[in-house]
Amino acid sequence: MAANPWARNPWFETVTEAQRRAKKRLPKSVYASLIAGTQAGVTLGDNVNAFGELQWAPHVVGAQPDRDLSTSVLGQELSFPVMISPTGVQAVDPDGEVAVARAAAARGTAMGLSSFASHPIEEVTAVNDKILFQLYWLGSREDMAARVERARAAGAKGIIVTTDWVFNIGRDWGSPEIPEKVDFKALLRLAPEIAVKPRYALDWVKGGKVTIPDLTAPNLTPQGVPGPTFFGAYGEWMGTPPPTWEDLAWLREQWGDGPFMVKGITRLDDAKRAVDIGATALSVSNHGGNNLDGTPATIRLLPDIADAVGNDIEVLLDGGIRRGSDVAKALALGARAVMVGRAYLWGLAANGQAGVENVLDLLRMGLDGVVMGLGHKSVHELSRDDLIIPDDFTRSFGHA
Ligand SMILES: Cc1cc2nc3c(=O)[nH]c(=O)nc-3n(C[C@H](O)[C@H](O)[C@H](O)COP(=O)(O)O)c2cc1C
Repeated sequence: MAANPWARNPWFETVTEAQRRAKKRLPKSVYASLIAGTQAGVTLGDNVNAFGELQWAPHVVGAQPDRDLSTSVLGQELSFPVMISPTGVQAVDPDGEVAVARAAAARGTAMGLSSFASHPIEEVTAVNDKILFQLYWLGSREDMAARVERARAAGAKGIIVTTDWVFNIGRDWGSPEIPEKVDFKALLRLAPEIAVKPRYALDWVKGGKVTIPDLTAPNLTPQGVPGPTFFGAYGEWMGTPPPTWEDLAWLREQWGDGPFMVKGITRLDDAKRAVDIGATALSVSNHGGNNLDGTPATIRLLPDIADAVGNDIEVLLDGGIRRGSDVAKALALGARAVMVGRAYLWGLAANGQAGVENVLDLLRMGLDGVVMGLGHKSVHELSRDDLIIPDDFTRSFGHA
């Protein structure tokens, strides 16, 4: 019998397959840290499943031969409306955020770089000139201002401030152990799960030497000053009083009038306040179901927020995007673009930079297929008329 030609193909055809390969390759606790989620995982599930409630009514004749997927977000030209959402990638791949930034650049898109990224921002802006630096409200105003200045000096094109985090994970399926420091003791404890993933372990061997995942946050301190450990930073974050809208307005001023996004909006009143502080963009986001469990899927919240503020601010969405048709649904419901999180992390785990490019290609192809099927010439023509939306689909709260 002929060998299965797909058996060892590093290219994968869906994000689900990338996830399967990530699970196979990564040590259990690293994989679990990508699944993340909180409490019962209701929001995590709804983010993904809600897309399945929306249906298309495609044409079969009259498709356009040339279709334009390009757009601009936060002043950046994007070859298609998908950006990389900031994630604290940590130990998935030794090149981590640098590999992701290269993949995004190769596919003509922008990347949000997490405060908890494992590589210095200067290494990341060196390979992609469309980097948006993400901040949590952590430490003093002086600390925040210093991070903003470091990002500016490194060539970041914009700031993303992430507002939604309640420090309350409590997962029914259990949380992975993350060591305080990856030292000999920790390695010994993690050895059994790493030993059964030899391909992952080999990735960390460079020039005959074993390098170990560096669980520090090098972008929280001035350039050249060693960053705190992940837990040190997390502890300081927990101890920092959460920001007020006045704090966020102050932060916006520190950045000047350049691109500035507020990430984590679920309510209409908060969307309006993001406009009031002069933000350029907001992302309708529930942190990928990692924050307050029971928050509705972001795609359910998008239509009313887009209606309320879509003329005053660029409205993005993140949460649950696994296919190009999910991107198309978000655009049809009023998003200018989407950001993806787990999808590219699984691609990165499955096949490094090429895996992230693979995921971006799948999203592009899937989006293009929908634009074609609906007879449109451009992503800007997607609208609610393209969708069958169940009566009880949307959720809306925070009316003035
Ligand atoms: C493992 C993991 C780490 C994350 N770390 C951050 C972070 O450091 N900063 C941030 O703003 N959002 C973070 N997020 C949230 C993502 O930016 C994004 O909102 C979310 O992943 C979107 O949902 P999706 O994973 O279904 O695409 C993280 C998400 C995951 C899964």
